[in-house]
Order: sequence, then C-alpha cells, then structure tokens
Amino acid sequence: MELHYSLCSKRTKGSEIREVLKYTRLPGIISFAGGLPDPSLFPLDDIARISSEVLRDKGFLALQYGPTQGESEMIDALIYHMKMFGENASRENICVTSSSQQGLDLVALTHLDPNDEMVMELPSYLGAIQAFERSGAIMHGVPLEADGMNMDILEELVKRKEKEKIKLRFIYVIPDYQNPAGVVMSLSKRERLIEISKRYQIPIIEDSPYREICFCGEVLPSLWTLSGGEGVIQLKTFSKMLFPGMRLGWITAEPDVISKLALMKQSVDLCTPTFNQLIIARYIMENRMRETIGRAVELYRQKNAVMITALREFMPGYVHWTEPDGGMFLWVTLPEGWNAADMIKTAAEKGVVFVTGRPFHCNEQGANTLRLNYSFPTIQQIRLGIERLAQTIGEYAKP
Ligand SMILES: Cc1ncc(COP(=O)(O)O)c(C=O)c1O
Repeated sequence: MELHYSLCSKRTKGSEIREVLKYTRLPGIISFAGGLPDPSLFPLDDIARISSEVLRDKGFLALQYGPTQGESEMIDALIYHMKMFGENASRENICVTSSSQQGLDLVALTHLDPNDEMVMELPSYLGAIQAFERSGAIMHGVPLEADGMNMDILEELVKRKEKEKIKLRFIYVIPDYQNPAGVVMSLSKRERLIEISKRYQIPIIEDSPYREICFCGEVLPSLWTLSGGEGVIQLKTFSKMLFPGMRLGWITAEPDVISKLALMKQSVDLCTPTFNQLIIARYIMENRMRETIGRAVELYRQKNAVMITALREFMPGYVHWTEPDGGMFLWVTLPEGWNAADMIKTAAEKGVVFVTGRPFHCNEQGANTLRLNYSFPTIQQIRLGIERLAQTIGEYAKP
C-alpha cells in the first residue's frame, strides 16, 4: 500500500547524527555523542521506596488520568522547587509537561504557522530546530558569542523584519550552559534581550535544562525572573538534574499563555503520567533535590575538568574548544573548511564517537564543529576517548 505522509512529517528530516548513533552501541566504543546523565547518579533506592509509598497511599489517583495542566501536588512541589532556586511563580503560571521536548512541541504548536519567522542562537539545540522546522517556520540564526547571542545582530534583524512588516513569533534561547556550546548568557545581554523583546513585543522562549548544573556556585537570574514574568515562556525539565526516564518537566508563563499551551497539550497526550508526577513531587517535598543536584554537579565538574585537561594535552594547536563552567557539553571548532562528518567513521574505528555540529545550525553552517558530552562517559573513558579523537583529527589533517 502506498501511504500518504503529511507535509509536517515530510518536513522532519533525519540528520547526519543518525550516522553516529549506529556506532554508539558497538562494544568498546566511548561515546561523547548523547546528552545522557550519568546513571550512577540515579537515586534508585529512594525512587523504589517512594513509588511503593505512592501506590500504597494514593494508588487510585496515581494510576488514573489527571488534569492536563498537572497534578496539584506536583504544581505545588514545582513552586517549592523554583523558590529553592530563586524563582517565583504561582499555580496559574505552571503547566506540567512530558519533559522539555514536549514543551518545545507545544510552543511550536501554539506559536508557529508555516512560513512564520522566529529567531534562535547559532548553534542551538537540535531538538528545538526539529520541532520548529516541522511547523514550516523560517528560522533565523543569530551567532552565539562567549557571553551569549550577539544582541547587535539580533536587534538589526528585528528592525529589518519590522521594516518588512514581518512579525517575528519569538526568540528562542538557552541562556545557561547552552546546548551545544556550553556558553552562559551574561547579565547585560539578558537585560538587553528583555529590552528588545519588550520594545518590539516579541516573546522569549527560555529553554533551561542545565541551569542547576553550575560548577561555580553562582547562577545569573533567569529571563523569567528578570522580565517580571512578562513575555517569557520558560521551559524546564528534570531530565538533566535528576533523570530523564520519567519524562517530566514544566512550563512557566503568563496564565493566558499557560491556558493555551494546556489546551494544546490536551490534544497531544491528555496529561503527563500521574504516577510519575506524584513520585517526583514527593521526592521534591522530601527535600532531596539539592543533595541530588549537588552530587551531579560534583561529578560533572570532575568530568569536565578531565576532558579539558585531556584536550589541552592531546589536541593539535589548530583545534579550539569552549571551557564551560556547567552543563554537560563542550563545543569544538576545527579549522575552516574541515568537515567533522568525514571523521565519524575513522573515529568509530578508533573506538570514539561524537556528534557533528552542522545539525545544531538552522542554516546548514558549522560543518567544521562538533559537540562533546562529558556527563555520560566515565572519567577513564573521557581521557582515552579524547586521545583517540585527537589521533583521528591528526590523521584527517595529514591524509
Ligand atoms: C536545550 C534542551 N532543551 C530540551 C531538551 C529536551 O530534554 P527533555 O525532553 O528530556 O526534557 C534538551 C535535551 O537534551 C536540551 O538540551
């Protein structure tokens, strides 16, 4: 039978990353490719205990459908969690999501029609590019610098679009330990971004999975906080600070935006699994999050340091990388004209994989870049993997 596929499904393209994924499960391979947390951090005993307590105390509720916007216990726990990290929100500001990828999906569904235009960092998160591309939107990339998006280029673009009478739908940013580059947006750029957003009436989508994974002990105020809760839609997830398997996250925004997003969510999955919400809500209210995040920060700080030391030791002088103070990734730039995709096979043969940088660019640039994850491999693997990668790069340089 010849099946008909929707335009939307046709717009969703595979990427060269697929090429990489086929190697990640080969025995002996060291993977810097995914964005996976270290599973040794997963609090298995606590989750096993809380799961049985939830079933015992609230089984009929836990295994039932729930409100689309989220279980009230979960929403209260989220408000408590946010407060612990210096953020304020009330119940009407929150919609629980089946993790941040769903947050991105809901944003695309509620804000983008085909040929609508929006702005993102260059490079940006691949999953966001996929969600926005699928809507048929036109994506404008604004270069990312060591302290965040280039605000002069952003403002020029916004002004040009205003002259052309084109309303940009939103500006999507990852201000804290950006995926893929590991960069943090400075306070002055956060303030400028909010000023531009308010002046030209363009909402900001603040995607913030890595904010808590901070090695220096000091995070900058979020865009949600700086904006006074106006014109910002903040996406959060437990995937990185806790674990991704329960697919749990939330959106914080103005109440009318939340109502719209919740309506859209209803058409997508009715509700986020009630059982998962009640488990995580209890975990938060037992005050386990600070300690859990603290363990992750300590481990990732060490892994990050080992990767940076190995890069300094093994990489040729023409290779450059970011040295982030948090998050899970660093970003490598090879000489102009090189193509990281051409190295994947050799790297895999040497027993290491990474993801190429081009799919993180909404404009097909970035062939000479790649992303390295340090949260998943072990400390021993990180050193060996970087040595193998350096050999691969060295051989590419001298064919
Ligand atoms: C910037 C960013 N947003 C969203 C996500 C999606 O995460 P999840 O759906 O697991 O919450 C990721 C995952 O890597 C990410 O890096």
